[in-house]
Amino acid sequence: MDLLFKPQKIKKLEIKNRIVLPPMVCFGFAEDNGFVSEKNISHYESIAKGGTGLVIVEATSVNKQGRLSTDQLGIWSDDYIEGLSKIADICHKYGSKVFIQLHHAGLKTPKHINEDTITSSDYNRGDISARAMIIDEIHSIEKDFINAAIRAEKAGFDGVEIHGAHSYLMTQFFSTEVNKREDEYGGNLDNRLRIVEEIVKGVKENVNNDFIVGIRVGCNENSLKTSIDMAKKLEDMGMDYLHISTGFDNTPIEEKVPEEFPCNWIVYGATKIKEEVTIPVIAVNLIKSVEKASYLIDNNLADFVAIGRAQLADYNFTNRIKEGREIVKCLGCKPCRWFTSGDSCPRIS
Ligand SMILES: Cc1cc2nc3c(=O)[nH]c(=O)nc-3n(C[C@H](O)[C@H](O)[C@H](O)COP(=O)(O)O)c2cc1C
Repeated sequence: MDLLFKPQKIKKLEIKNRIVLPPMVCFGFAEDNGFVSEKNISHYESIAKGGTGLVIVEATSVNKQGRLSTDQLGIWSDDYIEGLSKIADICHKYGSKVFIQLHHAGLKTPKHINEDTITSSDYNRGDISARAMIIDEIHSIEKDFINAAIRAEKAGFDGVEIHGAHSYLMTQFFSTEVNKREDEYGGNLDNRLRIVEEIVKGVKENVNNDFIVGIRVGCNENSLKTSIDMAKKLEDMGMDYLHISTGFDNTPIEEKVPEEFPCNWIVYGATKIKEEVTIPVIAVNLIKSVEKASYLIDNNLADFVAIGRAQLADYNFTNRIKEGREIVKCLGCKPCRWFTSGDSCPRIS
């Protein structure tokens, strides 16, 4: 438990403890067109006050045409910098470090947002369809990510997290299920990672050396073995950390999780990736108790633990476990009420 509260660095950035708020969209909170509202600021204020070492602000859209909803936070123009800077400032005020997750939904963009949805290759499954991006569009979206990172730095964030998980645009390039391209953005793993490689290069050329650039990816992106290969390549590209979740889909990894391991296959996958890289790894998914969190940190199986819904249910989660107090337990509603609005979470209302 002591190690959970021992500071740890990502590159030169010291984070006061090992607890992370993973990115979690607060639907219904933002102003029209994704501008930061007072509700967004007060949400992150409560989380930072609660003692979390690192806050990763929710998936924020780098491109208006790639949004998930009209109230998703935006960072596609300089107009968003002022509002976002208020979130960065409030987190810093309480001693948390703060990153922001950069997102494009690709084929997951609802048609009411954009009729002409795009992805790596022509895609048509069930009620979801999207067309293949031409090379100029790939370059243009790379620029959107790079410009978004530059804006994040201007807004005072300590770093950015590229959203390379959960079926969104980056995974649509990583996944052989979707990416059938025959040019330099498809085929072998290096080609499938090229979009992200070009984004990282562009970001690093345009931000200060101390600004953190990380990525959230799956441990099941095609397979655990491929995810490990990906992780090594992402480290070689200059990623400063990896945040391990699920990839294009939720297919569990084939590797058996040992019986004595107290967490699920997603967290187990993160620990296997950590064995193969030297950059910090954040593990996530249903790490809801101090026992599980400490197990991962004390045994050096992860560098950080991201605790999501449990922190939504109890903004004071981190302070409470530090002081040995009872936490307010997340009830695990399915689906989580925060997917509609945080106001309907039984622990908040
Ligand atoms: C309401 C809600 C919103 C979410 N939004 C995002 C998001 O913006 N970006 C992302 O990568 N994951 C998102 N997730 C996934 C979480 O970051 C996290 O991986 C997931 O909740 C599992 O962790 P937990 O069991 O600690 O909650 C969201 C999850 C929830 C419940």
